[in-house]
Amino acid sequence: MKPTNDLAITQYQDGPAMFTHLARKIALMVPQVRRLEEERNAALRRINALERQISDIAQRQERPAEPAQAQPEHVMQQAVEQALSRVRAEYTSLPRFGYHLPLDYEALTLPPAFDPPVMVEGEKLPLPPVAERHGHAGSDADYLEWGRYEKDILLGFMREGLPSLDHLSIMDFGCSSGRILRHFYDDAADHGWALTGVDVSARRIEWMRRHWPRDIQVYTGTFLPHLPFESNSFDVIYGMSVFTHMKYLWDTWLLELRRVLKPGGMLIQSIHTEHAWRFFYDNNQQAWAQDALGPMILQHETMPSDFVYFGDLDKNQVFWKREIALEFWSRYFRDVRVLPPPERYSYQNWVIGRK
Ligand SMILES: C[S@@+](CC[C@H](N)C(=O)[O-])C[C@H]1O[C@@H](n2cnc3c(N)ncnc32)[C@H](O)[C@@H]1O
Repeated sequence: MKPTNDLAITQYQDGPAMFTHLARKIALMVPQVRRLEEERNAALRRINALERQISDIAQRQERPAEPAQAQPEHVMQQAVEQALSRVRAEYTSLPRFGYHLPLDYEALTLPPAFDPPVMVEGEKLPLPPVAERHGHAGSDADYLEWGRYEKDILLGFMREGLPSLDHLSIMDFGCSSGRILRHFYDDAADHGWALTGVDVSARRIEWMRRHWPRDIQVYTGTFLPHLPFESNSFDVIYGMSVFTHMKYLWDTWLLELRRVLKPGGMLIQSIHTEHAWRFFYDNNQQAWAQDALGPMILQHETMPSDFVYFGDLDKNQVFWKREIALEFWSRYFRDVRVLPPPERYSYQNWVIGRK
């Protein structure tokens, strides 16, 4: 296919040369990289001048010139690499990839190749292969059990907070590959539920799109506070371990979730408070805790401030003191409650509010 513009080039062109060309064009948009480019041009001019001098001397002395230390192509390649690493250092992956995690974020494969889905007897829906379970690498039985446990907690909140469980429109916000959403499907036909899943990871969404029936709607979202739904569309929006990793734009996210909720609809999300802080502190010698949080954070026995953000956009942890979260969420929702973590598992609190 002949490219018609740079976008087409990124998607369909074959050679690394085109990639380098495009990468260079992008890199040149950054002022620091532009300066680097100017320095590179100056270096090239000096190399050319030196080559000419060497050649003159060689001719005069009638002996072969020394080969130039740095060939222009090599210098150019180095400059491109430096420019790209500068871009990577200054920007997270997100602007480069249109504020979501595209299919080829982890592998240069389009479309992605998945291991076969896992079929478990008695389950209506296939399970994602282990590689697509994202942080839930235990056995199939564990994966199912914890997902069902959390779905039951959510259903309990819904039963308590809504006049009826019938004909609900339910969104799993940050659904990953459907670990919790799958369990709502068991009763969806009986109750007339319309199920929707949204995640910024196109790969996880793509897995569900390929392997689950069409009546479960799944969409790739973005890190920007925008949801592709009409206002007043959902009775319930829940999310497990999503606001725990949403570092920025809390207010506009809450407003966006509020917009798509129906009046009286419920927002149910888990968050990190002092509980989670303590949990990480108690486990601060564990590799997984150290991997999730910087050593500086793990040294504090109690939360040192009203809220703490740690890490890059796609790999971060966000903590709010319970009282601060309550005050903040109450700006956007009514009847807000911050509930303690469930007894059996999870160090995360649940926040429940209503539009
Ligand atoms: C820790 S995982 C939890 C996944 C799932 N809720 C579960 O409990 O298995 C957090 C998920 O939220 C997604 N996510 C983070 N920010 C998001 C956003 N702004 N919109 C939609 N999904 C988001 C991530 O891609 C990831 O799949």
